[in-house]
Amino acid sequence: MGFSKNFVWGAATSSIQIEGASREDGKGENIWDVFCREPDKIFDGQNAEIACDHYHHYREDVKMMKEMGLQAYRFSIDWSRVLPEGRGSVNEKGIQFYNNLIDALLENGIEPYVTLYHWELPYELYKCGGWMNPQIVEWFGEYAKLVAERFSDRVSHFFTLNEPQCFVGQGFVTGNHAPGVKAPLRDTFEMAHNAMKAHGRAVQMLRQYGKQPLTIGYAPTCGMFCPDTDKPEDIEAARQAMFAMREDDSNWAWNVAWWSDPVILGHYPEEGLIRYEKYLPKITDEDLKLMSEPIDVYGQNIYNGCRVRMGEDGKPKYIERYAGSPRTAAGWPVTPECLLWGPRFLYERYQKPIYITENGISCTDVISADGKVHDSNRIDFLTGYLKALKEATQTADIRGYFQWSLMDNFEWSLGYTERFGLVYVDYRTQERIWKDSAYWYRDIIQSNGDTL
Ligand code: NOJ
Repeated sequence: MGFSKNFVWGAATSSIQIEGASREDGKGENIWDVFCREPDKIFDGQNAEIACDHYHHYREDVKMMKEMGLQAYRFSIDWSRVLPEGRGSVNEKGIQFYNNLIDALLENGIEPYVTLYHWELPYELYKCGGWMNPQIVEWFGEYAKLVAERFSDRVSHFFTLNEPQCFVGQGFVTGNHAPGVKAPLRDTFEMAHNAMKAHGRAVQMLRQYGKQPLTIGYAPTCGMFCPDTDKPEDIEAARQAMFAMREDDSNWAWNVAWWSDPVILGHYPEEGLIRYEKYLPKITDEDLKLMSEPIDVYGQNIYNGCRVRMGEDGKPKYIERYAGSPRTAAGWPVTPECLLWGPRFLYERYQKPIYITENGISCTDVISADGKVHDSNRIDFLTGYLKALKEATQTADIRGYFQWSLMDNFEWSLGYTERFGLVYVDYRTQERIWKDSAYWYRDIIQSNGDTL
């Protein structure tokens, strides 16, 4: 038992969270640039204008990746950096930055995995209705075409949307993320519908304009569900819970099936069509055909899960977490078994090779008196999670794992309070300090996970 010899070990980031240079070299504004200027939206009034200043430090960052033994690096393109207005004129300096980054990665033997959309909606498109405007399907398609034309001679791995659950759910249902709107639920279902069509259109454009055969995936998220015991009925309860809709409509976006069934299976889940009927836009066969444009791999961001048993009423029963159960610095539960059951259930249902496009932990990391960062919590967390993933490879085709994140970065509305990195960033100086976990991850990669 173990990881296949072609298993891909990587780390992930996203543009806004690390690049900085938010007003440089002709970059346009995206919804996060604008949101950060609103009062009381981001912890302590922080913003992503400098972040990790990766825009200027990318060479040393790539060198660091190489020293860590990373085989792959997942990053996103800031749509507004290459198309400042979201469509129309191209910002060549923005293209140049990503060309430089891609070249540096390849020179160092690191495979680039590009995410097209990690929440960087150009503000100009937002003003035209953003995800509410059905034209976004073509806007996103044109952007994908540009990406294919400019980068696909050297990049062959792409993911379309990162965590649509969050950019619709947190951006427009709860409104704690950019653009900070609490929209009617009817509108949010329409946005979701447009987003999945945009995904399909991007797949078509990448294929049509790609300069080599491409591997294309999708990167949604969600909590996973795990059986509390090995009994078949509890496993069945977890499976049902995993693909069920939320009880609470105001949290509707937080689920797996609404976002993945249309994309992979070509239809919305029946339970959702009934439960959400009053909010739904018109859904046509052409829409579903576009959404389910075939993709090659299935990405999933996985951070935690919930335990369930089969209740006496034949429905899944959620098991409360015990008092004092382990949590991350962000308060998220630590549940390694989600990397076993999550991929297993996803593979069973969708039958696509899986990449874990994100997994990681925020800790209250500090520089110790010896000048080092001793993050034993992260090492413990990753050991448990990766052991579970190793077991999952027995029943699911899992191709790779991207640790979130390469380095500490801008954690959205929480600003710089949450440190998710393998590498510590001192934001006063932009110094990068390897945490103990970075050395540990290097060894794990070297042994292809055998030492776990
Ligand atoms: C999911 C998101 O894709 C990423 O941007 C975020 O920083 C991590 N999870 C941690 O919250």
